[in-house]
Amino acid sequence: MHTILAHPLVKHRVTLMRDENTKPKQFRELVNEITEFLAIESLKDLRTREVRVKTPVAEATGVKVEDSIVIVPILRAGMGMLGAMLRVLPYAKVGVLGMQRDESTAEPVPYYAKVPPAKNDDLAIVIDPMLATGGSACDAFAQLKKLGYRRIVFLNLIAAPEGIDRVEREHPDVPVFTAAKDDGLNEKFYIVPGLGDAGDRIFGTL
Ligand code: PRP
Ligand code: URA
Repeated sequence: MHTILAHPLVKHRVTLMRDENTKPKQFRELVNEITEFLAIESLKDLRTREVRVKTPVAEATGVKVEDSIVIVPILRAGMGMLGAMLRVLPYAKVGVLGMQRDESTAEPVPYYAKVPPAKNDDLAIVIDPMLATGGSACDAFAQLKKLGYRRIVFLNLIAAPEGIDRVEREHPDVPVFTAAKDDGLNEKFYIVPGLGDAGDRIFGTL
């Protein structure tokens, strides 16, 4: 299942983010702002329990979030989305997966993993701005499943149809929330029109 955010405020920000003249400071701000929209849309069904709360006027019924959440950025570009995720979910744990695409084959090369083993029914929220071939995302989901995660959601900013299809084929149980679905991949496996190399634009390493 994949959901594309159709909100004009998201589309406005995606347009600014794509612009080659947008510098890292503004790029990072846009990444964070769009991530907040993605988080709010994707977490509508979080598990809650009813609680009573006393206001200065009377008692009211409210809810508390029950889900235990682990946010999993895929290094390096996924780190750009982490600040926004922790603002929305300040009590979440964070696990990281390091992965670097081999630029000639686009195959993901995992180089680091520090994710807590799944407890109970923890929800893992994987974050990475780009879903190109889908290799990195699928490798991340496979690693998380090995650690016992049964509930995984993927938030991403720009997706190619090839990546969405691959996730749906290999991990149909993982819902994908994306801000924009693009036309496809070029011969270097870059998303077209995309925004270039997300990691370089976030960290100013162009
Ligand atoms: C980018 C991006 C994803 C991956 C997407 O990372 O952040 O992790 O490529 O491509 P895929 O869907 O074809 O796997 P990259 O490997 O460039 O590393 P970086 O985040 O360190 O820049
Ligand atoms: N990784 C990126 O950062 N950009 C792309 O277009 C594809 C993979």
